[in-house]
Amino acid sequence: MRKPLVAGNWKMNGSSASNNVLLDGIIAKSDTFASVDVALFPPAVYLHQVQQALAGTGLFWGTQNLSQFNQGAYTGEISALMLADFDCDYVLIGHSERRCLYAELDLDQRVLDRIVAEKYEMSVKAGITPIICIGESPEEHAVGRTEEVIARLLDTVIAYQGVEGLAHTVLAYEPVWAIGTGRSATPEWAQDVHSFMRQRVAKHDPTIAESLRILYGGSVNSNNAAPLFSQPDVDGGLVGGGSLNADEFVKICQAAV
Ligand code: G3H
Repeated sequence: MRKPLVAGNWKMNGSSASNNVLLDGIIAKSDTFASVDVALFPPAVYLHQVQQALAGTGLFWGTQNLSQFNQGAYTGEISALMLADFDCDYVLIGHSERRCLYAELDLDQRVLDRIVAEKYEMSVKAGITPIICIGESPEEHAVGRTEEVIARLLDTVIAYQGVEGLAHTVLAYEPVWAIGTGRSATPEWAQDVHSFMRQRVAKHDPTIAESLRILYGGSVNSNNAAPLFSQPDVDGGLVGGGSLNADEFVKICQAAV
């Protein structure tokens, strides 16, 4: 039995004042989704604030990215050990907004996949659970390349780290065409892709595949969360816009109970 996980990715939103309102609203209702793991991903500058607020509540926290390097002259980067210093439980890796909007755009796709695998290794070594995001672009979706894209990244991670590492990993299927568009994947589509992912891992290790949590991300809201989360291979969600309002996010977490 896999415990559901709902992750709230705040992206580049919030302020000290608005974060307090959001955190208070979520914490106040946390007993209504106690059977669900819930993790919040603020911008890194607010990590301390979130750590202070969530410590002792049973809720988790982490960051939206990390460096593939240990330490040194990497301006603007944050290491896995720094995340551990702030008691982070999870870290997002390979989010499509990192892949598409930043230097990664210029990289050969296989080099990018390798960097994702390196970040994955850094987080696992620091004892932080990586949430690896994968999904197809609108163009790839249109020509039916979803499984090819997902298989390539999964195979890279497994080749780099070994399938054993997936025992301490969460995967998130995030179709790029569904992110921030208000156009979520249907529950049936999400189920088919999640099932494909689980089967791909099962070829290496059926036990790890069975215990692997696979989240769906892309325009999750309080209306579509329950049908998405009720699919047998959907183990919760990675929520962007819907995590910025306490009432909405609490309803999404409750849908995973
Ligand atoms: O990390 C979250 C995903 O990118 C989904 O974002 O819920 O705003 O579509 P969204």
